[in-house]
Amino acid sequence: TQCVSEISRVKNLNRIQMGRHLVETWYFSPYPAEHAHVPILYVCEFCLSYFGSAASYARHRHKCTLTHPPGNEIYRKDNLSFFEIDGRKQKTYCRNLCLLSKCFLDHKTLFYDVDPFLFYLMTVTDASGSHLVGYFSKEKESAEGYNLACILTLPQHQRKGYGRLLIQFSYELSKIEKRVGSPEKPLSDLGLLGYRAYWTEVMVEYLLANAETTLDELSQATAITIGDIQHTLHALGALRYYKGQHVICLSDKVIETHERNRAKARVNIDPACLDWKPPV
Ligand code: ACO
Ligand code: ZN
Repeated sequence: TQCVSEISRVKNLNRIQMGRHLVETWYFSPYPAEHAHVPILYVCEFCLSYFGSAASYARHRHKCTLTHPPGNEIYRKDNLSFFEIDGRKQKTYCRNLCLLSKCFLDHKTLFYDVDPFLFYLMTVTDASGSHLVGYFSKEKESAEGYNLACILTLPQHQRKGYGRLLIQFSYELSKIEKRVGSPEKPLSDLGLLGYRAYWTEVMVEYLLANAETTLDELSQATAITIGDIQHTLHALGALRYYKGQHVICLSDKVIETHERNRAKARVNIDPACLDWKPPV
């Protein structure tokens, strides 16, 4: 696999215009040199092509016919959809997606070789089309048992619960595959916060409903690996040693936080709206 590490490079771009959002970039992304130092890079929110000037972008928008990501729509409920895109079949789109997401991902090496990955794009639909809010990539074959390679919520949509939906979706795919899965390491700080919140929510929910259970059952029911379960229990301070045995013990504080989060009445992925079979 061709990949480059960008650790020592300085941030090149400053701002990106995507649809009606103008966002600051966070990190270096290897856009071609002629696009790398423009004050604002214009990215078509539907095909992810990029332009150095407002005029060339406007010309493109006039011609561009896409109103959703290119690929199979495998999930739809209300205005939320997921599209599955094969890196081998949609190389340009997937490379453009990687360039865009690299602006907000520091620790990852950027893969130019998109062939081994599937990309799951989450959109919110309105009258003008299905707008990308975030995505994750997944190796077609992961020797390490990863069910997610890279995850991103576009900065203009962060902290609204979309990351939680992306993570939930990745585990729903694992459940259909009848496997447990884990995100690729290392996780970024934000990645760890998002995963820890998800793991905690799902595990506490299961433990409150199933008082008598084992780590294996918990893992099978949630598709979360035993390692990630142990990591989360440890972070929650929920593992106790009692009469010669390890027991899980949820503190009042953990349960109160859980109740408070539940009261937020968040949207969930509805497995009944997911039309997907594992690729062969
Ligand atoms: N500060 C504190 N907690 C946070 C933060 C934050 N900035 N962001 C997320 N969380 C935690 C919270 O518990 C939050 O729940 P709450 O809002 O009810 O408190 C929970 O995570 C879920 O938050 P979401 O709104 O669902 O997450 P978001 O849509 O913002 O996406 C993501 C999270 C994908 C990690 C996003 O921050 C992102 O794209 N970051 C940049 C790219 C990145 O670092 N990706 C992960 C790399 S690791 C990998 O790819 C395997
Ligand atoms: Zn376009």
